[in-house]
Amino acid sequence: MNSKRFSICIVGGGSTYTPDMMEMLCLVKKEFPLRKIVLYDIDEKRQKPIGEFGSILFQEYYSELDEYVFTCDKETAFTDIDFALVQIRQGGLEMRELDEKIPLKYGVIGQETCGPGGFAYGVRSVLGMIELIHDIRQYSKDAWILNYSNPAAIVAEATKRIFPDDYRILNICDMPISIMDIFAPLAGLKRTDVEPRYFGLNHFGWFTHLYNKETGKDVLPVLLDKLKNGHCDDELHYTDKNDDYWNFTFKHLEKMVQDYPYSLPNTYLQYYLYPNTMVNHIDPNYTRANEVIDGREKRVKEYCQSIIDLHAIRGTQYDLDKKYAQESHDGIEQATVAHNDAHATYIVELAMSIAYNRKDTFLLMVKNNGIVNNLDDGMMLEVACQVGNHGAEPFHVGDVPTFEKGLLEGQYAYEKLTVDATLEGSYQKALQALVVNRTVVDTDLARKILDDYISVNKDYFPKLK
Ligand code: NAD
Ligand code: G6P
Ligand code: MN
Repeated sequence: MNSKRFSICIVGGGSTYTPDMMEMLCLVKKEFPLRKIVLYDIDEKRQKPIGEFGSILFQEYYSELDEYVFTCDKETAFTDIDFALVQIRQGGLEMRELDEKIPLKYGVIGQETCGPGGFAYGVRSVLGMIELIHDIRQYSKDAWILNYSNPAAIVAEATKRIFPDDYRILNICDMPISIMDIFAPLAGLKRTDVEPRYFGLNHFGWFTHLYNKETGKDVLPVLLDKLKNGHCDDELHYTDKNDDYWNFTFKHLEKMVQDYPYSLPNTYLQYYLYPNTMVNHIDPNYTRANEVIDGREKRVKEYCQSIIDLHAIRGTQYDLDKKYAQESHDGIEQATVAHNDAHATYIVELAMSIAYNRKDTFLLMVKNNGIVNNLDDGMMLEVACQVGNHGAEPFHVGDVPTFEKGLLEGQYAYEKLTVDATLEGSYQKALQALVVNRTVVDTDLARKILDDYISVNKDYFPKLK
């Protein structure tokens, strides 16, 4: 039992990931005791059912909490917090749908974070995140800001520039960790049995080693061999657990490893290395945003409402105990086993590593500063870091090969130009950002996509001159 109790604010309280995160905090309350939980959102209506669900959950399962509120008031939300767990989507799923559909009209990748979609989301997100961090810092100057909000690579480039000395801002992505969760079993291991080495930009990187923590042996070659031979889904059964989008995406890793057999790529490289396959695969009239709106968003709303209705009728608890068999779980690892969504697990693990100075290894976005010798020192790399109460301490990588170096430099130019365009209000740099992105290339095409984005983002984009 740890004695210090912490205070957490979930920013983007109306996020589809919030209910799960709140349940996770209940499951780890012995290991990571809290005194206060706050939900904050700019959309009162969206946050309300999730907030009410939280009231019921914490009343039943977290009687030790001194305070729980859900609010749209910044001062209430950000005063006296130790951790802000940030998951905002500037413009909502409605704008995500347009981010994805506009480039597809022109036969170009339409995706949440990759290609032009990531550019449009990036412009919105950078402005929202900068304002948010200023607001948090006004009330809690030392709080840890653990950010999931996408496109994380572009957000990280912007936060590095605006808050250069603030080591308590950490940008994290769940994709590499999910890849480890799914593929480590090919070597007979769990994610937590291996120590990763990885380099790249967010949603644009490669695993180079996966060391067995017990023996020190690198098991990545075992995974690569199996992926090369195909049919990993038979062994892993991930097709049972995930939806078609993710089935296709994880299966696609086999093809990527067959073509580049020396490292394990991030799944998102499928958009950059196989743009033709991906454009043909995506339905331009029903994109991932539509799947999420009709799937996860709806399910989460219904889930929260069902608990609220049950509480109104019975005035008693729902079966969280039964759902996760909590009594038999007394640690985050066991809780994770019972828990469906990895997203909550990772960010809570990160908060705990900081809170207890555990120096566990996470893949985070940090300034290069010599981690990779042959890349720009200012680049916001995603690499393995030990994380404790001094922040992220990255592991050195050395030189990266020419193919990866070339891809990374192009992609980083795109990310920098996106942030420049946003902060300077520059149309020229926005156009350059899209042209340098390898999913677009052609200037006339880039201009058409950019002009369409400008016309639908009037409420969000700065004036681009
Ligand atoms: P969502 O639209 O369901 O939730 C986002 C919430 O943020 C909404 O309730 C919205 O009202 C709120 N919001 C928007 N702007 C805000 C602001 N400025 N301040 C406070 N609240 C604001 O989206 P979701 O699908 O649940 O995803 C949430 C975020 O997490 C997205 O940015 C998504 O890309 C990101 N995400 C990142 C990773 C990762 O690997 N880094 C993984 C999963 C999700
Ligand atoms: C992964 C990525 C996230 C991304 C999410 C999209 O977890 O790492 O950055 O936001 O997938 O999932 P969705 O179900 O919303 O398409
Ligand atoms: Mn991600």
